[in-house]
Amino acid sequence: MPAEFIYHHIGYAVENINDSLSLFGNLGYKIVQDIINDKKRKVAIAFVKNGDLLVELISPLSEESPIRNYLNKMGHTPYHICYEVEDIQKSIGVLKKSRFFLVEKPSDAEAIENRSVAFLYHPKYGLLELLEK
Ligand code: NI
Repeated sequence: MPAEFIYHHIGYAVENINDSLSLFGNLGYKIVQDIINDKKRKVAIAFVKNGDLLVELISPLSEESPIRNYLNKMGHTPYHICYEVEDIQKSIGVLKKSRFFLVEKPSDAEAIENRSVAFLYHPKYGLLELLEK
Protein backbone atom coordinates (compact mmCIF):
# COMPACT_ATOMS: atom_id res chain seq x y z
CA MET A 1 0.00 0.00 0.00
CA PRO A 2 1.42 3.42 -0.93
CA ALA A 3 2.17 5.86 1.88
CA GLU A 4 -0.62 8.33 2.50
CA PHE A 5 0.08 11.96 3.17
CA ILE A 6 -2.77 13.59 5.11
CA TYR A 7 -2.74 17.39 5.36
CA HIS A 8 -2.09 18.47 8.95
CA HIS A 9 -1.06 22.16 9.00
CA ILE A 10 0.64 25.04 7.25
CA GLY A 11 3.66 26.52 9.02
CA TYR A 12 3.69 30.31 8.93
CA ALA A 13 6.84 32.25 9.85
CA VAL A 14 6.17 35.33 11.96
CA GLU A 15 8.39 37.83 13.76
CA ASN A 16 6.26 38.28 16.89
CA ILE A 17 3.85 35.52 17.79
CA ASN A 18 1.69 37.66 20.08
CA ASP A 19 1.15 40.30 17.38
CA SER A 20 0.33 37.55 14.89
CA LEU A 21 -2.17 35.84 17.21
CA SER A 22 -4.02 39.12 17.36
CA LEU A 23 -3.86 39.63 13.57
CA PHE A 24 -5.00 36.10 12.79
CA GLY A 25 -7.72 36.51 15.42
CA ASN A 26 -9.04 39.49 13.47
CA LEU A 27 -9.25 37.17 10.43
CA GLY A 28 -11.46 34.72 12.28
CA TYR A 29 -8.81 32.27 13.47
CA LYS A 30 -9.33 30.73 16.90
CA ILE A 31 -6.42 29.68 19.10
CA VAL A 32 -6.37 25.89 19.38
CA GLN A 33 -3.02 25.72 21.15
CA ASP A 34 -1.47 28.64 22.96
CA ILE A 35 2.21 29.55 22.72
CA ILE A 36 4.79 26.86 23.48
CA ASN A 37 8.50 27.67 23.51
CA ASP A 38 10.39 24.82 21.85
CA LYS A 39 13.87 25.61 23.17
CA LYS A 40 15.46 22.69 21.32
CA ARG A 41 14.35 24.11 17.93
CA LYS A 42 14.67 27.73 19.15
CA VAL A 43 11.12 28.60 18.07
CA ALA A 44 7.87 29.69 19.70
CA ILE A 45 4.81 27.92 18.28
CA ALA A 46 1.05 28.42 18.49
CA PHE A 47 -1.75 26.78 16.51
CA VAL A 48 -4.77 28.66 15.15
CA LYS A 49 -7.70 27.44 13.10
CA ASN A 50 -10.17 28.97 10.66
CA GLY A 51 -12.75 26.43 9.52
CA ASP A 52 -10.77 23.30 8.69
CA LEU A 53 -7.53 25.19 8.07
CA LEU A 54 -4.99 24.61 10.80
CA VAL A 55 -2.08 27.09 10.81
CA GLU A 56 1.07 26.87 12.92
CA LEU A 57 2.51 30.28 13.77
CA ILE A 58 6.25 30.06 14.32
CA SER A 59 8.55 32.81 15.57
CA PRO A 60 12.28 32.74 16.39
CA LEU A 61 13.39 32.50 20.02
CA SER A 62 16.93 33.62 19.14
CA GLU A 63 19.08 34.79 16.25
CA GLU A 64 20.23 31.16 15.71
CA SER A 65 16.65 30.01 15.15
CA PRO A 66 16.20 27.99 11.93
CA ILE A 67 13.35 30.25 10.76
CA ARG A 68 15.43 33.42 11.14
CA ASN A 69 16.64 33.02 7.53
CA TYR A 70 13.10 32.66 6.15
CA LEU A 71 12.02 35.83 7.91
CA ASN A 72 15.10 37.73 6.74
CA LYS A 73 14.67 36.60 3.11
CA MET A 74 10.91 36.50 2.69
CA GLY A 75 9.30 38.28 5.61
CA HIS A 76 6.13 36.90 7.17
CA THR A 77 5.13 33.97 5.01
CA PRO A 78 3.78 30.42 4.93
CA TYR A 79 6.89 28.26 4.51
CA HIS A 80 5.99 24.61 5.02
CA ILE A 81 3.08 22.22 4.71
CA CYS A 82 2.94 19.39 7.22
CA TYR A 83 1.48 15.97 6.41
CA GLU A 84 0.52 13.33 8.91
CA VAL A 85 1.77 9.82 8.09
CA GLU A 86 1.55 6.36 9.66
CA ASP A 87 5.25 5.55 9.46
CA ILE A 88 7.67 8.46 9.26
CA GLN A 89 10.69 6.39 8.16
CA LYS A 90 8.72 4.72 5.39
CA SER A 91 7.37 8.08 4.17
CA ILE A 92 10.86 9.58 4.17
CA GLY A 93 11.89 6.68 1.92
CA VAL A 94 8.97 7.38 -0.44
CA LEU A 95 9.82 11.09 -0.63
CA LYS A 96 13.52 10.43 -1.21
CA LYS A 97 12.54 8.46 -4.32
CA SER A 98 10.89 11.70 -5.55
CA ARG A 99 14.18 13.51 -4.86
CA PHE A 100 13.24 15.19 -1.63
CA PHE A 101 16.19 15.36 0.72
CA LEU A 102 16.13 15.19 4.49
CA VAL A 103 17.00 18.50 6.17
CA GLU A 104 15.99 17.55 9.71
CA LYS A 105 15.86 13.91 10.76
CA PRO A 106 12.92 12.66 12.86
CA SER A 107 12.78 13.97 16.42
CA ASP A 108 10.11 14.69 19.00
CA ALA A 109 8.15 17.95 18.63
CA GLU A 110 7.37 19.56 21.97
CA ALA A 111 4.56 21.66 20.48
CA ILE A 112 2.80 18.64 18.90
CA GLU A 113 2.38 16.21 21.81
CA ASN A 114 6.05 15.12 21.49
CA ARG A 115 5.20 13.32 18.28
CA SER A 116 7.96 12.57 15.79
CA VAL A 117 8.49 15.17 13.03
CA ALA A 118 10.98 15.45 10.17
CA PHE A 119 11.65 18.08 7.49
CA LEU A 120 12.43 17.45 3.84
CA TYR A 121 13.16 19.80 0.96
CA HIS A 122 12.65 19.65 -2.79
CA PRO A 123 13.75 22.55 -5.03
CA LYS A 124 10.44 22.41 -6.93
CA TYR A 125 8.29 22.04 -3.83
CA GLY A 126 10.05 23.78 -0.97
CA LEU A 127 9.94 22.63 2.63
CA LEU A 128 7.75 19.72 3.71
CA GLU A 129 7.17 18.47 7.25
CA LEU A 130 6.14 14.95 8.20
CA LEU A 131 4.32 14.19 11.45
CA GLU A 132 3.94 10.62 12.63
CA LYS A 133 0.46 9.58 13.80
NI1 NI B 1 4.95 22.54 11.24
